[in-house]
Amino acid sequence: MSNPLAPGSLEGRRVLVTGSSRGIGADTVRYFAEAGARVVINFRNKEARAVKLADSIREAGGTAITVGADLTDPASVAAMFDTVEDEFGGLDILVLNASGGMESGMAADYAMQLNRDAQVDVLTSALPLLAPGSRIVFVTSHQAHFIRTTPTMPEYEPVALSKRAGEDALRALIPSLTEKGIEFVVVSGDMIEGTITATLLERANPGAISARKDAAGKLYNVSEFAAEVASAAVDPVPESHTRYVGDTSDFVPVDDESN
Ligand SMILES: NC(=O)c1ccc[n+]([C@@H]2O[C@H](COP(=O)([O-])OP(=O)(O)OC[C@H]3O[C@@H](n4cnc5c(N)ncnc54)[C@H](OP(=O)(O)O)[C@@H]3O)[C@@H](O)[C@H]2O)c1
Repeated sequence: MSNPLAPGSLEGRRVLVTGSSRGIGADTVRYFAEAGARVVINFRNKEARAVKLADSIREAGGTAITVGADLTDPASVAAMFDTVEDEFGGLDILVLNASGGMESGMAADYAMQLNRDAQVDVLTSALPLLAPGSRIVFVTSHQAHFIRTTPTMPEYEPVALSKRAGEDALRALIPSLTEKGIEFVVVSGDMIEGTITATLLERANPGAISARKDAAGKLYNVSEFAAEVASAAVDPVPESHTRYVGDTSDFVPVDDESN
């Protein structure tokens, strides 16, 4: 997938993508860097991968820093934004990409801690760094976005409910963000081929991912979906504040919007 952002189009802009040492976040942050943005690569565990990605961005002439932070730990989030302020002086784009909840050995409410409470904490903590004209992008799945109206695989349901709760909590902030001149958009996509989540769900529900592929006509891969996330940071924000990626015809629309 080629970069949807024109070279130099984000020169001087400062971008943080949460959970960007690997997967969708890593491809997204690379697109921003290639377009000239100075990027913050946030990781929780995968420091070596984050450093390798930052090195490759610098070798290509870009600017990148890595910041470790467990987003469920408010002190860790505060320290991350202190570093961003010291290094870059502010932020123009914040992508809320990090997600989880299917890890084993976590507290029963971990999905809610990460996908709802931590998202609100990260956004709120970032506010002093976000000037008018800046943008926040929240990344989610169709399976989570439509969970109130369309059931999903049992293994994913707690994650879906927590991500929708996070989306709702963030959407409730839209009026106050608008007052500050900060834009907000949700990017919702179907299962993404080649991700750990899709692989785990396929293992638990053999045939589930190919069934989604047949129903949707196509599933996006990691770099294609990342291109949509990066584009959502610069394209006009839809009236519903939601950018749908790929087919949604199998999902029952949420009737209020909010949507
Ligand atoms: N996978 C799909 O099929 C799919 C479909 C539609 C939408 N999405 C959305 O796309 C986004 C990225 O998905 P993905 O599949 O690329 O995710 P992933 O491979 O599971 O990666 C998750 C990222 O989040 C980070 N992370 C997890 N817990 C964290 C915590 N407590 N603090 C800080 N960072 C944390 C991880 O960091 P470390 O690696 O350092 O631990 C990792 O970089 C998510 O919002 C997801 O809901 C995914």
